[in-house]
Amino acid sequence: MEKLAALIAMMVFLVAIAMPMAHCSIEGPEEVDEWFQKLPYAKEKVTKLHFFMHDKYAGNNNLTAVRVAQASVTAKSPSSFGLVFIMDDPLTQGLEPTSKELGRAQGLYALSSQSEMSLLMAMNLVFTSGEFNGSTLTIMGRNPAAPYREMTIIGGSGVFRLARGVALAQARFFNATNALIEYNVVVIHY
Ligand SMILES: *[C@@H]1O[C@H](CO)[C@@H](O)[C@H](O)[C@H]1NC(C)=O
Ligand SMILES: *[C@@H]1O[C@H](CO)[C@@H](O)[C@H](O)[C@H]1NC(C)=O
Ligand SMILES: *[C@@H]1O[C@H](CO)[C@@H](O)[C@H](O)[C@H]1NC(C)=O
Repeated sequence: MEKLAALIAMMVFLVAIAMPMAHCSIEGPEEVDEWFQKLPYAKEKVTKLHFFMHDKYAGNNNLTAVRVAQASVTAKSPSSFGLVFIMDDPLTQGLEPTSKELGRAQGLYALSSQSEMSLLMAMNLVFTSGEFNGSTLTIMGRNPAAPYREMTIIGGSGVFRLARGVALAQARFFNATNALIEYNVVVIHY
């Protein structure tokens, strides 16, 4: 009996390691349950992503980020404290806005410091092409006016279920209407 149990456990283990953890579309709650059952046997992967985010937050047309709220003190605040934007920014492979679109950064950013220009970022990276099409990464972090801004990957969906990692952002260009941000992302997932 014990031998049989051991054999079954071994077979379950082999099936578990042979089955890929990755998948893009949810088939239902059973699929999620199965995924969690296999999780103890899953191997961690490290994936690196590199892309550019195009943010058009002012001007007359085709804004990708819109101002949705501000406080009565915002206009007088040197750090625009209280200003909130909702974004749906294209993420591209190359620097040019016309280069291949990999996905969108959807979420909000808010001016959240009373003493310096600093943003709270709460957004989903929604991948719409390539090997991560259909998967998302969720970022929550602080985005101050520094050469490099380190933000936290707090989770994900699809191939990025239970992801964690670091998103490093660097402003490559900005003026009164547009910003171009380079992202280097390192994610641990299964
Ligand atoms: C705004 O978007 C529309 C539709 O995609 C496009 O035809 C137009 O050229 C864009 N305008 C500017 C100024 O980029
Ligand atoms: C991404 O996935 C969607 C849904 O499965 C599909 O309709 C679309 O064609 C895919 N896009 C690319 C560029 O592969
Ligand atoms: C800001 O940069 C964008 C993109 O290069 C350009 O199209 C736009 O004319 C610039 N706006 C101003 C106010 O300089």
